[in-house]
Amino acid sequence: MKALVVLACVVLAALATPTKPSLKEAKVVRVVPHTEEQLHHLHQLLLQGRYDFWQEPRGLNTPVDIMAALRDLPGLAATLSGRGLKPTVMIHDVGRLVEQQTVERLQHHTRAMDWHNYHDYNTINAWMAQLASDHPDLCQLEKVGTSYEGRTMNLLTVGSGGADKPGIFIDGGIHAREWISPATVTYMVNELVTNRDTYSDLLSSVNFYVMPSINPDGYQYTFTDDRMWRKTRSDTNSPFGCKGADPNRNWDFHWNEVGASSSPCSDIYAGSAPFSEVEMRVVRDEIIRLGSKIKVYLTFHSFSQLWMYPWGYTSALPDDWQDLDNLAQDAVSALTAVHGTRYEIGSSTNTIYAAAGGSDDWAKGVGGVKYAYTVELRDQGSYGFLLPASQIIPSGEETFEALKVVANFVKNTYSK
Ligand code: ARG
Ligand code: ZN
Repeated sequence: MKALVVLACVVLAALATPTKPSLKEAKVVRVVPHTEEQLHHLHQLLLQGRYDFWQEPRGLNTPVDIMAALRDLPGLAATLSGRGLKPTVMIHDVGRLVEQQTVERLQHHTRAMDWHNYHDYNTINAWMAQLASDHPDLCQLEKVGTSYEGRTMNLLTVGSGGADKPGIFIDGGIHAREWISPATVTYMVNELVTNRDTYSDLLSSVNFYVMPSINPDGYQYTFTDDRMWRKTRSDTNSPFGCKGADPNRNWDFHWNEVGASSSPCSDIYAGSAPFSEVEMRVVRDEIIRLGSKIKVYLTFHSFSQLWMYPWGYTSALPDDWQDLDNLAQDAVSALTAVHGTRYEIGSSTNTIYAAAGGSDDWAKGVGGVKYAYTVELRDQGSYGFLLPASQIIPSGEETFEALKVVANFVKNTYSK
């Protein structure tokens, strides 16, 4: 009897722990659909949830990047070639690349913040605290919440003109594995603050409200357990033990209508309800609290090099889309001028795919922020989520030029 109980426990424990296929010799392959049938097939594959799509199907003649574990590669190759899709290999061994980058990161490891390296959540938080204590007249750090696993979430306000000035809300790291996002956001803040004399005019007319890493548990998990984790780390009631919701499918605006999943094991799981994820409630509450002071909402993701505006839940465009498009064009021109990096501009549904419950849609549709953008940073798939740390500074430099265009626009339009 006792043995039976022990056995049952072992079996249950095994069931409760989803086996994560190893990244060792996993590949990222690219296919380009040229017919509607091929595109449809790729969509079906995406919905199956067997493979990790690094770039989802967007349209004809646009690359789709798929990661597959070694054991799944023959199956993937077969299903692709069955539709005449010829895969090319983008990353030969994801596991080895992750290992290489980990070794490099630990070699160059400094406990202090810098932009030669990616840094974990505590380092980013400590850096923000230091910034606030070094520049008390320019920066304020406020604890605004606590993540599911108990990490402190801070809001950094940068500006010298007082609370009534128009503001830009900036967040990063909503998707855990998109490391270039917190790195670029912190680069830009550092640039503004350490060159405060150069930007004194801007800093006295516009406030920057910044949260560089709004999915702290997921982000930390990518340092400790699974570099490819995307979601939050909350418990679901999944019988398979799957954890987390996609925080960018969790916002309460046309929630779960399209491009999201109700299955807790999916990487695009919308959550058990709108705003089921505490971290997104924290960010929402800050946007509500700041209210009409926020003129622009910027949320940074990676990768694909896109500057997108709402809507994500429908292919229809907002009435004022031309205004959003104009500002995006100006921002991207400045970005491209720095290193020649090209970005595509458009509404998110029309640029990539329909997906409801995103923070950008909520910011505009509910939060009342006219200029809401999702920016997909570097690159276009050569490294994807595993963008080398040597690209943090170039990414920061070019994105900062875009931010300056946006900030000057806010200053000229809303600051008197
Ligand atoms: N890659 C992002 C995501 O899948 C794009 C989000 C665009 N915005 C949207 N509301 N669908 O979350
Ligand atoms: Zn993302």
